[in-house]
Amino acid sequence: MRFDILTLFPAMFQGPLTESILKRAQQAGRIEFHLHDIRQWTTDRHRTADDTPYGGGAGMVMKAEPLAAAIRAVRATDDRPGVTILLTPDGELLTQQIVRELATLPRLLLVCGHYEGIDERVRETLIDRELSIGDYVLTGGELAAMVVVDAVARLVPGVIDSESIVEESHSDFLLEYPHYTRPAVWEGRAVPSVLLSGHHGEIARWRRAERLRRTLARRPDLLVRAAAAGVLSKADLTLLAELGWRPEASGSA
Ligand code: 6GU
Repeated sequence: MRFDILTLFPAMFQGPLTESILKRAQQAGRIEFHLHDIRQWTTDRHRTADDTPYGGGAGMVMKAEPLAAAIRAVRATDDRPGVTILLTPDGELLTQQIVRELATLPRLLLVCGHYEGIDERVRETLIDRELSIGDYVLTGGELAAMVVVDAVARLVPGVIDSESIVEESHSDFLLEYPHYTRPAVWEGRAVPSVLLSGHHGEIARWRRAERLRRTLARRPDLLVRAAAAGVLSKADLTLLAELGWRPEASGSA
């Protein structure tokens, strides 16, 4: 899978793309990254990428011409045009479902918004999708683009061990069960004995119950979605009822 990142600050991506799993995945040829400095497509001697907003108001707006030229030029560097995504706080909220969708694509172009935003006409003509990573404001789209890259890249076949993807949080709306490793007692705190029993059926039941308990306590909104998606068994619903779950009081997603 190919990622093209269009940004005013390409140096910000150094650490995240050159360490750990993403580094190995590039070396193994599973994913490739191409960083593009939008300023490269400015035409004036001050390399101006932003300007004041028409109608007045605070902040600066990313200019249409350099950004559009950058997107068009980067698209043309590969036969696959790819999907062009703008990272912006007013975009659609990123979820694991969207991440899974993006991971099936051969190529993504990520445009990092900055200042107050980008000229609306570029959004209308060249942006396929707009994403936000949460209801808070960052100084720019770069950190959000890194989040998208990381979440998507790990689902590309061969990047990580596929078993760890199956049961993880959010893949089926339930949070993960708690994990333990040696020693069996640490600072007086013992690992739950069922995990030492060697009884696989009981371990699986205990883990399922912990996932349900935890999701109810922390993210009741996810249980509503799990129920709607049909991933809760009769035994799950019985346990949740015992734990006092009232679906109508959990809020919607
Ligand atoms: Cl994509 N950009 C900015 N600037 N802030 C954000 C965001 C994106 N997602 C959440 N906050």
